[in-house]
Amino acid sequence: MKFTAHNILLGDGTKTMGDGHILFSESELWKSIVKTLDLFFPGTKEERKKVKVVDLGSLEGGYAVELAKLGFDTLGIEAREENIAKCNHVKDSLNLSNLKFVKDDARNIANYGNFDIVLCYGLLYHLNDPINFIKTMSSCNSKLMLLHTHFAPERDIRYGLGFLNTYFIAPIQKRTKILEFTKNWRLSAITRNEGYRGRWLKEYNKNASKKKIEKLLWSSYNNDQSFWLCKKDLTTALHEAGYDSVFEQFNYTGDIIPHNNNYHYKRGMFVALKH
Ligand SMILES: C[S@@+](CC[C@H](N)C(=O)[O-])C[C@H]1O[C@@H](n2cnc3c(N)ncnc32)[C@H](O)[C@@H]1O
Repeated sequence: MKFTAHNILLGDGTKTMGDGHILFSESELWKSIVKTLDLFFPGTKEERKKVKVVDLGSLEGGYAVELAKLGFDTLGIEAREENIAKCNHVKDSLNLSNLKFVKDDARNIANYGNFDIVLCYGLLYHLNDPINFIKTMSSCNSKLMLLHTHFAPERDIRYGLGFLNTYFIAPIQKRTKILEFTKNWRLSAITRNEGYRGRWLKEYNKNASKKKIEKLLWSSYNNDQSFWLCKKDLTTALHEAGYDSVFEQFNYTGDIIPHNNNYHYKRGMFVALKH
């Protein structure tokens, strides 16, 4: 089993990615989540047993495992066969009775009950219907959503150039980094989807085989294009979906995630709260 992102300490003392990588549990990315959980759910491990958490798009299970270790009643939902096998391998090795994984499209979250905490990391920007998904998540989330996602820049002349950017400017910038003040994601021109502003990103070919899609371990699953919301549209949608306050958190950078994540890569950590 080749792990690609989550370096997890297993029950036998080995690590899923070996010694050359920082453990996920020791990363600033994870520690930033713990800080927020301690703020809004400051109970003991015993008290946290009653708190239900869902981790959407679990990949290799790193987040779900750490949430379960804190005591939370944790469910991970992951669409890909290979990823779910890794999640279950980790779960078996750690013997965590309060941790479960299901193989499903995260859009079906409502079939699994209600959650005090929804963790949606690295998934929203892989969907073609992010607004609908925000509403679905909110419909089964009573208190807190932790969201890590890309957003689309409101202004970037490169994305108005169509093919010229996709096939000429972006490949040159990828190789040389010339004038690449912010990463060239080859997004579309600004447009509206589900009534909100953002930009489209091609994930894979429309007619890619199921087998090929299964192998794209970090990508979208049931949609060949994804829609990146503009930041203001994202926070507006969260408010409209029932979150009273939306905060942005910044203390997740420095090791796995570089310090220029927010500006260069157009990505952020959002904390949405129902009071
Ligand atoms: C970029 S990875 C992020 C993984 C992890 N949450 C993290 O932040 O490290 C996206 C993950 O979401 C999964 N995924 C993509 N679309 C999905 C969907 N519709 N339902 C469930 N999982 C999905 C992928 O298989 C992959 O594991």
